[in-house]
Amino acid sequence: MNEIDLDKIDLTQPPPEHEPERQYYFMAKCREYVRAESKRLGRPLICGAFTFGCQMNARDSEKLLGILEAVGFRPTENEQADFVIYNTCTVRDNANQRVYGRLGELNRYKKQNPQMKVALCGCMMQEPTVIEKLKKSYPFIDLIFGTHNIYKFAELLCASFETEGMLIDIWEDTDKIVEDLPVERKYPFKSGINIMFGCNNFCSYCIVPYVRGRERSREPKEIIREIERLVADGVVEVMLLGQNVNSYGKNLEEPVTFAQLLREVEKIEGLRRIRFMTSHPKDLSEELIEVMKQSKKICRHLHLPLQSGSTRILQQMNRRYTKEQYLELAERIRREIPDIAITTDIIVGFPGETPEDLEETLDVVRRVKYDNAFTFIYSKRTGTPAAAMENQVPPEQVKEGFDRLLKLVQETAREQVAKYQGQVMEALIEEVNENDASLVTGRLSNNTIVHLPGDASLIGKIVPVLLDECHGFYYIGHCILEETGAE
Ligand code: 5AD
Ligand code: SF4
Repeated sequence: MNEIDLDKIDLTQPPPEHEPERQYYFMAKCREYVRAESKRLGRPLICGAFTFGCQMNARDSEKLLGILEAVGFRPTENEQADFVIYNTCTVRDNANQRVYGRLGELNRYKKQNPQMKVALCGCMMQEPTVIEKLKKSYPFIDLIFGTHNIYKFAELLCASFETEGMLIDIWEDTDKIVEDLPVERKYPFKSGINIMFGCNNFCSYCIVPYVRGRERSREPKEIIREIERLVADGVVEVMLLGQNVNSYGKNLEEPVTFAQLLREVEKIEGLRRIRFMTSHPKDLSEELIEVMKQSKKICRHLHLPLQSGSTRILQQMNRRYTKEQYLELAERIRREIPDIAITTDIIVGFPGETPEDLEETLDVVRRVKYDNAFTFIYSKRTGTPAAAMENQVPPEQVKEGFDRLLKLVQETAREQVAKYQGQVMEALIEEVNENDASLVTGRLSNNTIVHLPGDASLIGKIVPVLLDECHGFYYIGHCILEETGAE
């Protein structure tokens, strides 16, 4: 990675056919354009990459920024830049609306800075109706691409330097995974790692399988190699990312299980913490519970989306588990790994949901006692089977159900989080506290946040913290020793 010297690439030759060499060629070419423009303006060119949506998108944005920096842009957090890219999400309609809202703003910046370029990519771009709307109402956008060709960003950026007007490149699907492109990490001490792309589950409300394509797993050796390099570069915590990590490796030429992959990741020396996201309950294996139980590095946190507690609704959602099966699984996990935190996602207002169905969901929340839960109002996504279902729930009923659910999940979460008051736990210190510079903010293995006295020198370190006071969803504590010894 980053080892390829762009200066050594001969731009008088035609571009290579193979990846990632082809993209390095276009990076070298883009760098020429950036240099020329920067000379003309008498200042460096500034870029911003902005993420909407999930951890996968956040990781993709790090890749976009890696390329932008490699070609000579300076990053900023501000949207008044020479190149702005939005990495979009379309899982719920409000994510789309936020993008449209902010595009209006960008148009104003572009009027003040005419050489500014605006690019859009990510899940929302895979929807044909979105592209139509952008073409019609947002003609100032320079570059649009989707989820399947993001690895071609350097090539597309180059083409955009050479084109006037809107350049659009959307693919329907891909089976390609390109390794070894540059990445600019947001945090020096922790990183997300894609272990797979796409989803094959087709939950009836969800647009992800349509915009992210079929499930593809990366080769274990590529994943291990990437993590080893990250660790050599100072990373102590990794988050393995996939829409459904429990089905990792099934379609590889030499199939491996997710639990087997975790065993290999555990062996990496210098790596201290392993997280992963997301687990589909239907695929969570005995073997995974066993590996988590024995592991010294896998964090005590499992995100296990419930979506609904009603077996009838679960069936309509095509989730392929019943209320009882989910409860049995959650109980087994709590029994085997007592200090684990279980978090979840729940949707309220799926077509046909009755007050009785909601009671079933509340019942699961009471029994599982989630440590945290993300609650969503059902959002109709065009093209999904649920969008065609007739019995959409009246908004007042949805609102009432949502408020009840939220109140309950907050109660159980408070109770769960408070369980560890007075205990000593290890925290990875992530940043200086935003509101009080005498404090730093860390994360426990179970994902709970703790604020403690300290300064920036602690960032990236894992320290033992006495959890003095629980304040609802977080702790105030203090560090009781020096940093715990690295292995
Ligand atoms: N409406 C509401 N929530 C949704 N999610 C996915 N699709 C929808 C939708 N159409 C939620 C699910 C998923 C999380 C990432 O987003 O709960 O787990
Ligand atoms: Fe969507 Fe279901 Fe796949 Fe999750 S598992 S991304 S909810 S289709």
